[in-house]
Formats: sequence, C-alpha cells, structure tokens
Amino acid sequence: MTIIKNTGGFVPRDRNWQPAALTPQYKTSVKRSPQAALLSFPTTLSEETNPVFGHNMLGDLDNDLIHNYAASGESAIGPRIIVHGRVLDEMGRPVPGALLEFWQANAGGRYRHKKESYLAPLDPNFGGCGRTITGEDGSYEFRTIQPGPYPWPNGMNDWRPAHIHFSVFGHGFAQRLITQMYFEGDPHIWLCPIVDTIDDKAAVESLIAPLDMHRTVPMDSRAYKFDIVLRGRRQTFFENRVEGM
Ligand SMILES: [Fe+2]
Repeated sequence: MTIIKNTGGFVPRDRNWQPAALTPQYKTSVKRSPQAALLSFPTTLSEETNPVFGHNMLGDLDNDLIHNYAASGESAIGPRIIVHGRVLDEMGRPVPGALLEFWQANAGGRYRHKKESYLAPLDPNFGGCGRTITGEDGSYEFRTIQPGPYPWPNGMNDWRPAHIHFSVFGHGFAQRLITQMYFEGDPHIWLCPIVDTIDDKAAVESLIAPLDMHRTVPMDSRAYKFDIVLRGRRQTFFENRVEGM
C-alpha cells in the first residue's frame, strides 16, 4: 500500500496583486463577479498533483502559429516574432512540464471566431491558437505574428492593446493561470480598462514583454521575452516527495 504524505499545498493567491473580481470600468466584470462571499475549501491531493502533460501530446506545428493553420507553402501575414520565457513558481523554481496554450488576434486585430464583429479582414493562413510544454528548466518558446490592437464594446471608444492570451497548467490545479501578455512600447496598455483593473503598477509591468534582441533571428523574426510566475508550494520540493518512501 502506498502511503501518501502531506503534499504541502500551494501558497494562497495574493489578492493585492491580482485584480479584484468586480471592476466596473471593465463592464463584463459586473455580471461575472460573485454576488456572495466566497467559501473556502481545503485542496485535495488530486488538485495538488494533477494534471500531468507529456510532450508526446503535441503536434509538430503546435508552437508555430505562423504555419499551423497555413496552406502548404504559405504563412501568416504580419510581423514575425518569437515569444519565449520561463515558467517559474513564487520561489523562483522552474516549473517543467507545464502546458501553455495561447490564442490571439491576427495582425489586423481580428480573431477567427464566429462571434467576432471587427471589420478587419481574416487572414486565410492564420488560425490564432497554439500550445507548448515547458522543458526541464521551465523554458518555452513559440513562433507567431505580432497581433494588432482591436476595438471592443466597453466604453465609447475602447481599444485593447496588442496582446496574446495565455492559459497555463502547472503542477496542480491551484497553479492554473489565465493571463495576457502585452508588448513593450504599446501606448494602448495604459489606456486599457482591463489593464486598469490591476492596481499595482509593478503587476502590470510584469505582463509587458520586452523586446529581446538576443533571441531575434536576423532577417526573420524579432523576439519578446515573457516570464510567467505561478503560485508556489509552501515546502521545498524535496520535502514534498509523496511516493510512500
Ligand atoms: Fe483578446
């Protein structure tokens, strides 16, 4: 019989760093946010040790949005970029085997979605979705085109900064993170009602990927660096080993 020892649990979410659920300048949050006080439940083992993903679930072009929807010999239209970084926990430890999924508008700022209403044209060679899994050092990389900003029905004239959406599965459901990456130098960042829901300026800056000339490919792609920090475990990894030893 396997004895499962204490797995430690994850550090609670810092609600001073994360945006509040109710932020009326972001209109959708008014109906989405909880109407009653939250209830707290202790996590269970399955929530602290799952999910687990393997590299063999990935397709060859899953991390290449320039080509993964394009016809043979074609490629997506737009500024070619590499997005790379590391997934770390709050203690600075790499998170290997984390599944990253990303989705974005095309270079004109339009999504491939049936409810999309922006008049910018679709790119027949761009789907806008991809995924990858972090390596042993928590690193990841994918290729795409730089998305365009787009208008959205919130205020009278609100525009989203250029951004890439990320979903991250770490080593437990407590580490699940949905976030957005912005691009250094985009003036829309500081005008955006969604960005404005984040009170801490340093937290906003952590979502802005700087241009990384060290990882550019000459005559091919520029690069942006985006590190992602997930919630950490209270104990060190060594203390956390669970397999009834
Ligand atoms: Fe978006």
